[in-house]
Amino acid sequence: MSRKLKNVLVTGGAGFIGSNFINYLLGLSATGSKEFMDSGFTGRIINVDCLTYAGNPDNLSMAVKQKDRYIFEKADICDRKEMERIFKQYDIDTVVHFAAESHVDRSILGPEAFIRTNVTGTFTLLDVARKYWNVSLDNKRDDVIFHHISTDEVYGSLGPDGYFTETTPYDPRSPYSSSKASSDHIAMAYYHTYGMPLTLSNCTNNYGPYQFPEKLLPLMISNIRDGKNLPVYGEGKNIRDWIYVEDHNRAVWQILNNGRYGEKYNIGGENEWQNIKLLNKLIDLTAPLTGKNAEEVRKSIVYVKDRPGHDARYAIDCSKIKKELGWQRKMTFEQGLELTVKWYLEHREWMDRILSGEYKNWISENYSGR
Ligand code: NAD
Ligand code: DAU
Repeated sequence: MSRKLKNVLVTGGAGFIGSNFINYLLGLSATGSKEFMDSGFTGRIINVDCLTYAGNPDNLSMAVKQKDRYIFEKADICDRKEMERIFKQYDIDTVVHFAAESHVDRSILGPEAFIRTNVTGTFTLLDVARKYWNVSLDNKRDDVIFHHISTDEVYGSLGPDGYFTETTPYDPRSPYSSSKASSDHIAMAYYHTYGMPLTLSNCTNNYGPYQFPEKLLPLMISNIRDGKNLPVYGEGKNIRDWIYVEDHNRAVWQILNNGRYGEKYNIGGENEWQNIKLLNKLIDLTAPLTGKNAEEVRKSIVYVKDRPGHDARYAIDCSKIKKELGWQRKMTFEQGLELTVKWYLEHREWMDRILSGEYKNWISENYSGR
């Protein structure tokens, strides 16, 4: 490990990837997988999350037990005064910026929140960090770092061949991906213009515990369990590249420790699946665990109206991070998918609290002010 990271500000740490990241840093893993408990981090985490519908304090039930190392701050990343207070109060030296509006379908229904959080929120954080760290081209620092988390969706849509590399031109198609593309450009501009000690990563589709059940895999697992319809957009031929969330987070940790400032790193699972093939695999795995017959479950597949502007294929070339930082994914898809399905089925109460909306009441009772 080369950088000394002490006071780590994680934004969006109550969401899917952020909560798994916090667990990883604290030597925890939702599934108890020993190979994902090896971060070696000894500092403090300050989780800043405003708890939108996607932010779930239940995801942090293990982390909250480490009171001396884990602090939660309910705050909006667009709130400059709050961000300034938090940087000062905890003497932040590291930012891992996950907070975002993240669901493509919601961005089509209502893009405004995406522009606000993903663009204005990212700008606000960058600007507060720049001033707190007093960085400029004449005052470069190597003891602090801002890591911006992004997505492969900024690159647009691939045909049947080829891969996104770090030099693929941006070509976003949805309000979500265009807001993330904007935030990537602003982040890189801060590196070039102000010497911000910054790294950036673009990752493919994550799967694993704590994912909000509006996204494909947890939605389908929950619907198979409950005997509901399984809605497939269009013809189900779109292709996504899937990576286990803890492998993504290990990559982020390696970048934080050894990544070069001003560099982008692609992170991928090298694991492409057509949606319909993935759903059939999921049915084969989930049906027997829920006492159902896979062929019967398949009858619940319904082809629904396609997502507007639905990107055909994403696939990442991640040779740069492999070569430069020695990162390799540890989880095979077979193992990871089984672990994930079992986790959702064994944590029925986690899923049901979200689906019933009960957790929203819990939030207003428990987080009605700091
Ligand atoms: P998520 O929707 O599960 O979680 C987002 C979190 O951000 C929530 O806890 C939410 O409360 C918080 N948040 C939203 N707006 C906020 C604001 N204004 N202030 C403070 N907190 C706010 O998202 P995720 O799937 O965990 O994604 C995390 C990051 O990773 C995002 O930047 C996303 O673009 C990126 N990403 C996700 C994937 C994926 O497959 N899920 C893949 C690549 C990149
Ligand atoms: O590629 C990285 C991106 O992956 C992240 O940047 C996003 O934050 C994350 O949400 C995810 O975006 P997708 O749009 O790929 O994920 P989603 O789970 O919504 O959909 C996966 C695929 O499944 C996509 O092709 C649409 C399709 N789909 C999705 C849902 C929810 C269906 O066919 N039916 C569904 O009900």
